[in-house]
Amino acid sequence: MTNAVNVGLIGCGSMGSELARAVKRGDAGPARIVGLFDEYAPGRHALAEELGAGEGSGPAEFDDVSDLIAHPELDLVIECASQVAVVAHAEAVLSAGVSMLVMSSGALTSGDFMRSVSSISAKTGAHIYVPSGAVGGIDTLRAARPLLESVTIVSTKPPIALSGAPGFADFEDAEITSPTVIFEGTASEAVSLFPANVNVAATVSLAGLGPDATKVKVVADPNSPGNVHEINAVSRAGKFSFRFENVPHETNPKTSFLAVLAAIETLRSICEPGLRIGN
Ligand SMILES: NC(=O)c1ccc[n+]([C@@H]2O[C@H](COP(=O)([O-])OP(=O)(O)OC[C@H]3O[C@@H](n4cnc5c(N)ncnc54)[C@H](O)[C@@H]3O)[C@@H](O)[C@H]2O)c1
Repeated sequence: MTNAVNVGLIGCGSMGSELARAVKRGDAGPARIVGLFDEYAPGRHALAEELGAGEGSGPAEFDDVSDLIAHPELDLVIECASQVAVVAHAEAVLSAGVSMLVMSSGALTSGDFMRSVSSISAKTGAHIYVPSGAVGGIDTLRAARPLLESVTIVSTKPPIALSGAPGFADFEDAEITSPTVIFEGTASEAVSLFPANVNVAATVSLAGLGPDATKVKVVADPNSPGNVHEINAVSRAGKFSFRFENVPHETNPKTSFLAVLAAIETLRSICEPGLRIGN
């Protein structure tokens, strides 16, 4: 990969738009968004216009991912869409030798799918990057992985942030006035019940004990100061606890500020080879 990284973006919602704006400002180093794909055409078009498509300097819009992948200058696809989009497109992207940065990391908790994309990656040399997202401590879990005995993540969110998730269906009409446990189980079970909410748990599980052994608790709390994640790990190297009280992004309240910053930092580290601290 050259220093100037040409990016194709799948998903032009909250996260994708913020990331694209950061790239345009130069926050991610020498990166350029060359193409956009989103199944919601108006959103994709609005972002293309904002990035300068109307003036001839912005990214191209694509109706089909295969056309985006065929873009002659493409170095990296960034997914900011959904687990469904990762499952639908990752194998084709990686098979074309194009690396992929995945935000919807829940898709990677399926053992069969993980084996498939890893094997394609090994053959083509394309990388799969999973940013730390809305938490930290991922480097610690990776380092201590052989010595880990248990990893638990508790995600506490205002009920509105969980609304619409299949795992919240029984609580949609309930009046939640105090912290209420909505789910307790493994990361594998959580990703299908809360597909848009537990990518953090998925990333923690991929770094540490794996999706079947990582314990997840989802709590709805009307007084939660935002999306709060608490990670507790016990290992033969020590006990580690991390707490993240995330501030929503200033222009997109749906997205944690830290998740956007983590994606930008991962892209910057891809664009700027050199010193690596903590990863
Ligand atoms: N890893 C993390 O810590 C972390 C943090 C925040 C968000 N996320 C994940 O990143 C993804 C994007 O988040 P967001 O806040 O921008 O969501 P969003 O709903 O604001 O935007 C998603 C966009 O992707 C598009 N999309 C969805 N499925 C698609 C598909 N199959 N093909 C094409 N386009 C598709 C939608 O039309 C929408 O415009 C979500 O899966 C979210 O859960 C991960």
